Amino acid sequence: TGYITHDPGFVNTGAASSAITYIDGDAGILRYRGYPIEQLAEKSTFIEVSYLLIYGELPTETQLAEFTGKIQRHTLLHEDLKAFFSGFPRDAHPMPVLSSAVSALSTFYQDSLNPFDEANVELSTIRLLAKVPTLAAYAYKKSVGQPLLYPDNSLGLVENFLRMTFGFPAEPYEVDPDVAKALDLLFILHADHEQNCSTSTVRLVGSSEANLFASISAGINALFGPLHGGANSAVLDMLEGIQAEGGDVANFVTRVKNKEKGVRLMGFGHRVYKNYDPRAKIIKNTADDILSKLKGGDQLLDIAKKLEETALSDDYFIERKLYPNVDFYTGLIYRALGFPTKYFTVLFALGRLPGWIAHWREMIQDPATKIGRPRQIYTGYASRDYAPISER
Ligand code: CMC
Repeated sequence: TGYITHDPGFVNTGAASSAITYIDGDAGILRYRGYPIEQLAEKSTFIEVSYLLIYGELPTETQLAEFTGKIQRHTLLHEDLKAFFSGFPRDAHPMPVLSSAVSALSTFYQDSLNPFDEANVELSTIRLLAKVPTLAAYAYKKSVGQPLLYPDNSLGLVENFLRMTFGFPAEPYEVDPDVAKALDLLFILHADHEQNCSTSTVRLVGSSEANLFASISAGINALFGPLHGGANSAVLDMLEGIQAEGGDVANFVTRVKNKEKGVRLMGFGHRVYKNYDPRAKIIKNTADDILSKLKGGDQLLDIAKKLEETALSDDYFIERKLYPNVDFYTGLIYRALGFPTKYFTVLFALGRLPGWIAHWREMIQDPATKIGRPRQIYTGYASRDYAPISER
């Protein structure tokens, strides 16, 4: 009290204590609930990781079956909610469409908005995990003008999402197991990352005791920005730009170093990692595998690798400890799986959803939580007198 720490960007501010995710940015370590990301990436599944993040432990077989079953029972949307998608322009960006639709869930489930009613929070949790993939698939379908599909609850979460996105009514849709596996892995790697911009947003909005749907909708909007989740689309635009100009990677890096307005090496740098992002390491290997399997290679991947190599041997990036982050190689994989560039950040949102939910629940249960309300350093006029409009 009386003394305000000025910390723009909250670089040194610990706003919460949390038992969910551990990062050591200098060593390049990431763990969910104590489990190394490398082990989860290799051995676990997205649904299991979602359970782990939200409830704190890996599920037993019975718990997993029950959790999966509950989610499957809630994948349908209220028919009236589908009308929502017709209101947006066809070329609307799918991120604001998704955040609006998630916000609208508060209007459909008014019975379950009390943040302190544990049964209701549990129901909202399941509804979100079940319905957000359906909403995301519908955002895609609307953007390409194709008919919406009902969920097929005999399928797993990722398979169901792929079918609703790329399938057609009355036509069988064979889920390619390589595609499903790659997407499941990417969702695991995105599932949580402690107090990042969108998660902090979810916690901040939730600290006013706003309901879970409203808080997650705000998180989706925070994720939209190109310095956060929007970076995955921006990386692909950047790679295509370099390709269109003849693949001159060195020239692009020079422009970045000269700090030309609007030119950043997208997918590089991180507030916490001052070492190789452990997620990027896993994703880089996956990109190699999946792109050679699905496309027989990719010229943009070659450009990305050359870009990484050039940057990592340059003093500008070494001095500033700038390494590839999670977004550097993901876009190439999403593209190979058939997603348009504009849609990449929606996939990030699907992956991050269990993390947001876990943080909101942790925040609401923590007796130390207070409404988030930063202070400021006032720099305006001290005091002045009102002048009538004729005298200004
Ligand atoms: N390209 C060129 N220079 C960079 C970059 C970059 N990508 N990132 C940081 N720098 C420079 C920056 O100009 C500054 O240099 P100087 O000291 O000469 O002014 C120095 O490195 C420190 O950067 P900062 O902006 O103070 O770092 P920050 O912690 O505030 O920002 C960041 C972190 C991720 C927003 C930033 O690195 C960035 O804009 N990266 C590109 C966008 C991106 O890839 N975002 C995804 C982040 S990871 C996952 C996610 O959240 O989605």
